[in-house]
Amino acid sequence: MEQLLEGKTAIITGAASGIGKSTAVLFAQNGANVVVADIDEEQGKAVVEKLKTQGVESIFAKVDTSSAEDVSDMVKTTIDKFGSLDIAVNNAGVGGESALIGDYSVESWDKTIAINLSGVFYGMKYQIPAMLEGGGGSIINMASILSQVGFARSCAYVAAKHGLVGLTKNGALEYAKEGIRVNAIGPGFIETPLLEKNLDDEQLEQIAALHPQGRLGKPDEVAELVLWLASEKSSFVNGAYLPADGGYLAQ
Ligand SMILES: NC(=O)c1ccc[n+]([C@@H]2O[C@H](COP(=O)([O-])OP(=O)(O)OC[C@H]3O[C@@H](n4cnc5c(N)ncnc54)[C@H](O)[C@@H]3O)[C@@H](O)[C@H]2O)c1
Repeated sequence: MEQLLEGKTAIITGAASGIGKSTAVLFAQNGANVVVADIDEEQGKAVVEKLKTQGVESIFAKVDTSSAEDVSDMVKTTIDKFGSLDIAVNNAGVGGESALIGDYSVESWDKTIAINLSGVFYGMKYQIPAMLEGGGGSIINMASILSQVGFARSCAYVAAKHGLVGLTKNGALEYAKEGIRVNAIGPGFIETPLLEKNLDDEQLEQIAALHPQGRLGKPDEVAELVLWLASEKSSFVNGAYLPADGGYLAQ
């Protein structure tokens, strides 16, 4: 099998679960050394062990992406261990509470914006100088279909994910000449703990039906797009927002 990321070093935040975990496994299968960065140490270390069975190097970095200091340390740890940073997937995210704007708690607003938007800014802020040292790189920010349309009772999530697309475009145009590409992915609803924690079976069925393909997506179906954006196959794709949504946004 062709290895698209042979010898590259990648940081993936939120890699202990769901889309981040599937991406970590696919990256390792494609020859990348992966820094599994997550707030969940136990699950994160289990992913590291799984990746090592693919014959690549992998370490766990404990990080709360809403802390600029943690994110800076995550990048330092990566450079100390691997000497360079080629790929960063800013994927860690939370759903936030489910409530109308008038009832939405300030605490949940602040936390959701801190992790889903500021956390990605911190990521780019520290990843970009490290990538410039190595002559370039590829950054992939995990947005959502809710970067393009609203979803009642999810104001903080929707606002953060819309903001992420703007941040992605700015990153792309500021560093294009220096060999860094920055893109965003917009998954539809994907079968991961993030969804399964918050919704019962009946709600999941209703949400699946909102997708023209009539089902939820799978983490691997998003990971394949992350891999393509991380690799040289997408060398002229920059500042883009690419959905992987079973047709959700085509409606
Ligand atoms: N599942 C979906 O339907 C869906 C749809 C669109 C976008 N997304 C986005 O994809 C990304 C991954 O989501 P998922 O569905 O795989 O969720 P998940 O809950 O399975 O995984 C999220 C991971 O992020 C980690 N995390 C949470 N807060 C963190 C923090 N402050 N610092 C570091 N790590 C933290 C968690 O420990 C977990 O390992 C998120 O940004 C999410 O918004 C998911």
